[in-house]
Amino acid sequence: MENRKTFYITTPIYYPSDKLHIGHTYCTVATDVFARYKRLRGYDVMFLTGTDEHGQKIEQKAKEAGKTPQKFVDDIVCGKGGILDLWKLMNISNDRFIRTTDDYHVAAVQRIFKKMYDNGDIYKGAYKGKYCTPCESFWTESQLKDGMCPDCGRPVHDAEEEAYFFRLSKYAKPVQELLESGTFLEPASRVNEMINNFIKPGLEDLCVSRTSFSWGIPVDFDPGHVVYVWVDALFNYATALGFMNDRYDDFGKYWPPVNIVGKEIVRFHSIIWPAMLMSVGEPVPTKVYGHGWLVFGGEKMSKSKGNVVDPYILADKFGVDALRFFLLRTFPFGSDGNFTNELLINTINTDLANDLGNLVSRTTAMVEKYFGGRLPAARESGDFDGELLALIASTAEKYAAQMDVFQPHLALEEVFKLIQRANKYIDETLPWALAKDESKKARLATVLYNLLEALRVSLIMLTPFIPASCEKAFAQIGADKAAQSWDSAAVYGVLPAEVEVHKGETLFPRIDTQKMLEELEATHAKPAPKIEYPPVSPDVSIDEFAKCDMRVCKVLSCEAVKKSDRLLKFMLDDGSGTPRQILSGIHKFYEPEELVGKTVVAILNLPSRKMMGLESNGMLLSALRMVDGKEDLYLMMLDDSVPAGAKLC
Ligand code: ME8
Ligand code: MG
Repeated sequence: MENRKTFYITTPIYYPSDKLHIGHTYCTVATDVFARYKRLRGYDVMFLTGTDEHGQKIEQKAKEAGKTPQKFVDDIVCGKGGILDLWKLMNISNDRFIRTTDDYHVAAVQRIFKKMYDNGDIYKGAYKGKYCTPCESFWTESQLKDGMCPDCGRPVHDAEEEAYFFRLSKYAKPVQELLESGTFLEPASRVNEMINNFIKPGLEDLCVSRTSFSWGIPVDFDPGHVVYVWVDALFNYATALGFMNDRYDDFGKYWPPVNIVGKEIVRFHSIIWPAMLMSVGEPVPTKVYGHGWLVFGGEKMSKSKGNVVDPYILADKFGVDALRFFLLRTFPFGSDGNFTNELLINTINTDLANDLGNLVSRTTAMVEKYFGGRLPAARESGDFDGELLALIASTAEKYAAQMDVFQPHLALEEVFKLIQRANKYIDETLPWALAKDESKKARLATVLYNLLEALRVSLIMLTPFIPASCEKAFAQIGADKAAQSWDSAAVYGVLPAEVEVHKGETLFPRIDTQKMLEELEATHAKPAPKIEYPPVSPDVSIDEFAKCDMRVCKVLSCEAVKKSDRLLKFMLDDGSGTPRQILSGIHKFYEPEELVGKTVVAILNLPSRKMMGLESNGMLLSALRMVDGKEDLYLMMLDDSVPAGAKLC
């Protein structure tokens, strides 16, 4: 067999911090479409996707779920309804799946890190800052208040914390040249964004190790440091082919990749990633394509905002192919697209049920009705054939031109011009009228044959998008494997003259918009939350109550306690003139910035106690309830007109 051209394409590796949503599905389906298209074109394709499993966020999420980080990611990746299941459901044809916790990847990243260290591109440096010993806090020069600690007002001193840095600054020039040359980064609009926002202001060296948490790849020559998660993650594209490891041996064959990524991570992929590849002496990607976001009523769909659309529900309601098709037909790949259920239903009804589905069912039904399912060989050409046959011959080239530059929506536009032209051809040639006249049988057979050929070439081009439906439709129109090949996509007359069709199931049933919208509403409607109401506690005497000294306080400063995910440290004005320090475990509910200046209530006469080495003199009052078994907490805040020091009674 001759040496086929290779094509290597990747998706981002997603964080398994939660279930994936329609945004991730969009990117993976798009990449799948490109991979399938290249296979159709005869390329030897390697299509990689996977998961980015290290980092503080995952460590944190695992802790909240009461699991080890490994168990936590295993469940999200491999569990029922997890990421692997989702890609299987969506008919994703990836050749490989990488998890950054895979042994071979971990070992390879350690070697890569060492290699960059040995060649001088990674060096040990320090996070420099001003340190306040009593507060155990680092400050930058500009954060200081009159040269003193902004929290406690005491003097600070110069201090530093060890960390490794990558010499990103050294690569500013070659990276800028790369960005300005040719088509490395697309869409082109993102090039200026990168140069103006990041390169021009000056590239600083990048901190590439962390010591504040442990869920990551250890720097093997310096325990205590873990490799920065983005260094770990970006090299997945290389280690998955066997770079710096012997699990695989395809690096020479498939490198370099086309990296498909969302626009928010273009900076990592078009600046840091090529710089690190230059450092290890390997070719940079052929292309980084930064696709747009699916937005939901104007906002980016995101797990933390809760406005996520569940691909399982959509696939179940509409079918996998209809969903795949909608995602790529509707939104220009490089731009943001506003996702709505109405748009989804509309696209399915117009393009799939009406235009494509009807063409298949009308054509096969007529071959069955007028010729018992098999066309006779006699032919007679006539009016209207010319335009349809010209489109059959010319569409594939226009489609390919768009697919080759990652514009699937424009490629589909070309296919639908042909499909719409074929539907119009039915209205022009009036096959049902021809059928009434015995002398027009040859003409009728020609009309139906032309329609089948228009369908056949359309289906070839639609295969990357809706593979399962095309397989069914090919069987219905009597197209064998050769008649499904790319080589026959611009050739008229590939189906046998006496082609046999089989009218089958309706490929894309029409959707009742109103009914479906109501159904979707119902699926997304949440059941009423369960709110606990504990019994009222036993009586206390008024004297006992009066012993609690509760005062109004103003929040002077508030900050997260280092190495604690729960504790906030407050400096309070309690009216006495001396600031009071209180620690409170409410970081899960409030960011420190939002509390500065607030009027709160504290109980002052509790014994002082130490948490994380810090003293707490009292307790802030909060209101707490349990909702669906989870804490729902509100820090007590008063109107700001209430003065500090006022006592609650
Ligand atoms: O960033 N619309 O992972 P991630 C369109 N682990 N695409 C969306 C989207 C939306 N609303 N939301 C997510 C990471 N995506 C890193 C990547 S790569 C070495 C490491 C898609 O789980 C889009 O492709 O946050 C985006 O870039 C990707 O999911 C981010 O997934
Ligand atoms: Mg993200």
